[in-house]
Amino acid sequence: MPKVIYRGAESVIYLDDGNVVKERARKSYRIPEIDEKLRRERTRKEVRLLVDARALGVMTPKIIETGETKITMKHIDGKRVKELLDTSDRSTIARTCREIGRLVGRLHSNNIVHGDLTTSNMISTGRDIYFIDFSLGDTSRKIEDKGVDMKLLHEALESTHFKILKTCWDNIIKGYKAEYKDAVKVLEKVDEIERRARYSGKE
Ligand SMILES: Nc1ncnc2c1ncn2[C@@H]1O[C@H](COP(=O)(O)OP(=O)(O)OP(=O)(O)O)[C@@H](O)[C@H]1O
Ligand SMILES: [Mg+2]
Repeated sequence: MPKVIYRGAESVIYLDDGNVVKERARKSYRIPEIDEKLRRERTRKEVRLLVDARALGVMTPKIIETGETKITMKHIDGKRVKELLDTSDRSTIARTCREIGRLVGRLHSNNIVHGDLTTSNMISTGRDIYFIDFSLGDTSRKIEDKGVDMKLLHEALESTHFKILKTCWDNIIKGYKAEYKDAVKVLEKVDEIERRARYSGKE
């Protein structure tokens, strides 16, 4: 029996022969035809973005095999950045966050938005930070889409790493600006999105 290591809202992750298999589970609340189509599309998109990101020098797990609704990839032996940030000293936190900013900047310069930038979707091997879980990602040239990506990252830090938020965010921005020429435009957009949310009473 394969060993299930994670059961998410949309997918099941298990180990098979040392590799990670991510399989999109059927959702009974969706009309079967639509469910099938959605699972196939998300799988295809995730594969494409994993490959594209890697080609740009943003580490992602190597893909071994793909099926219609499942991806078999290399297991990354490391620590989720979520746990890493919780157990590290300030200088490691700063260095890690700067690297995260640089990598997101690399993606955004090449018009890839991740769609779910949380520290659970990043794995550190000590040498590299791997990005996973691109299923909500897309290719987009729009500053707004990149702004939403950064806003989600900020929200994720607020909710999971509140105590180190400032150190994290300052360093993420440093790395992001160093890597991406339109960084300031995107960050202005993040402020605008925040203001809009406040005004409409969502925050
Ligand atoms: N290649 C991998 N190597 C090591 N661990 C992995 C790998 N892929 C996934 N994981 C582990 O499984 C967890 C869930 O994976 P992932 O984020 O891709 O699924 P998900 O959040 O359920 O995705 P979705 O939001 O698309 O339903 C990760 O947080 C990570 O701990
Ligand atoms: Mg995830």
